[in-house]
Amino acid sequence: MQVNLLLDKQGPTISKYIYGQFAEHLGRCIYEGVWVGKDSDIPNVNGIRKDVVEALKNIQVPVVRWPGGCFADEYHWKDGIGPSEKRSTIVNTHWGGVTENNHFGTHEFFELIRQLECEAYINGNVGSGTVQEMQEWVEYMTMNGESPMANLRRDNGQEEAWKVEFFGVGNESWGCGGNMRPEYYADLYRRYQTYVRKYGEHTIYKIACGPNVDDYNWTEVLMRNAANYMDGLSLHHYSIPTRVWQDKGKAWDFPEEQWYSVLEHAQYMDELITKHSTIMDKYDPEKRVGLIVDEWGAWYNVEPGTNPGFLYQQNTIRDAMLAAITLNIFHKHANRVHMANIAQMVNVLQAMLLTEGEKMIKTPTYHVFDLYKYHQDAELIDSYGDEITHVTYTVSKKDGKVTVSLCNYDLTETREITLSRKEGEFVVLEAEYLTADVMDAHNTFEEPEAVSIQPFTRYKTDKNSLIVTLPPMSVASIIIKEN
Ligand code: AHR
Repeated sequence: MQVNLLLDKQGPTISKYIYGQFAEHLGRCIYEGVWVGKDSDIPNVNGIRKDVVEALKNIQVPVVRWPGGCFADEYHWKDGIGPSEKRSTIVNTHWGGVTENNHFGTHEFFELIRQLECEAYINGNVGSGTVQEMQEWVEYMTMNGESPMANLRRDNGQEEAWKVEFFGVGNESWGCGGNMRPEYYADLYRRYQTYVRKYGEHTIYKIACGPNVDDYNWTEVLMRNAANYMDGLSLHHYSIPTRVWQDKGKAWDFPEEQWYSVLEHAQYMDELITKHSTIMDKYDPEKRVGLIVDEWGAWYNVEPGTNPGFLYQQNTIRDAMLAAITLNIFHKHANRVHMANIAQMVNVLQAMLLTEGEKMIKTPTYHVFDLYKYHQDAELIDSYGDEITHVTYTVSKKDGKVTVSLCNYDLTETREITLSRKEGEFVVLEAEYLTADVMDAHNTFEEPEAVSIQPFTRYKTDKNSLIVTLPPMSVASIIIKEN
């Protein structure tokens, strides 16, 4: 495979927000995965797990979406503020029917954001909440001056307003968020977003609920009726090996055909973004409105013996391929995809981290986010060359360095890829990769490092070329000097 890099051509910026996370009140994501409470024996800072924060900071998480998902349209934020022992409980009807104590609320979420040093993406309640409730939440979070909600926040111990970078007006309003028709939701969106006010200096980026996978009519109606009122339109797509919701396929110990079927389903993201974006172009040719893929990833059957409502699944080298393939697609569409949030951050679906009591492991997906972090806010480099079966890649540049990330998701074949530049030699500064010997290799609490990043040496340079030999089932990032 021959790839010619156009290092001098100006490309779009790959927004760091493409590396966003999603943390819902679902199973053990928030409770146990993030929040253990101040009195826990598990090491924590203000109730939030130290190990989880440290791991997430290493991959430079830029933004976290909270509190849902389906949960968001049943969440009433006032139940989650004030002294924790006085907070009322909530039944998580969508996810296992469990009763939660609301100890993780707005203040605790912003404490997480502070510790991660990242931005907040709040998803508001349109399905079962009032306009007033949404307006007051925004006021509570972002108003610095004198006001009823700002004073209430101060009474609860937070003097300074927080910064809300992104605000979602409802979630999956076509489904769990209210079963609405696009015409109805478009009007409701216009109304609710009016009260997502600007209380301080910062303008909140407003996100309308977008289509379910390939519902192109939803995108058309929303763009036609509400494009001027939104900054972003969301899109959800999950990859399922069997494409059958009732029996999605196993997360590990799966048949060979499901390796390729789930990765093929992940690649459908390219077509989805292209087609939704084409509709958006009609109303927004400047691409001001971002396509916000705020739920994506692999969805398998839950691990045997776990609560079916908790969506706990293992994560293998196959998921690492899926993550790399999808991130490469987002990069390619960087001028339209302004943010993406993988589902979900800890213990749910295609998670970065898994916990069991005080133990925590990093998943193969985590390691891809680590290998790919150099692309955050980097300039996409255009290239041309041959297509090669089962290989995808991204090249970007930032701060005088060029990062080449390559994924060979073939199960058996090694690929040779030659990267060429018009002028100058390739000086490799650093090279790392992730691979495995078996297609369902994964980390466990007993063997936490079974799949982990290793130094990569299978490359050579020759004049203006870099020749990479990439084994099957592997993802590599090679950092080279720009000049
Ligand atoms: O991520 C799990 C669920 O999937 C979310 O709550 C919902 O928005 C989607 O259907």
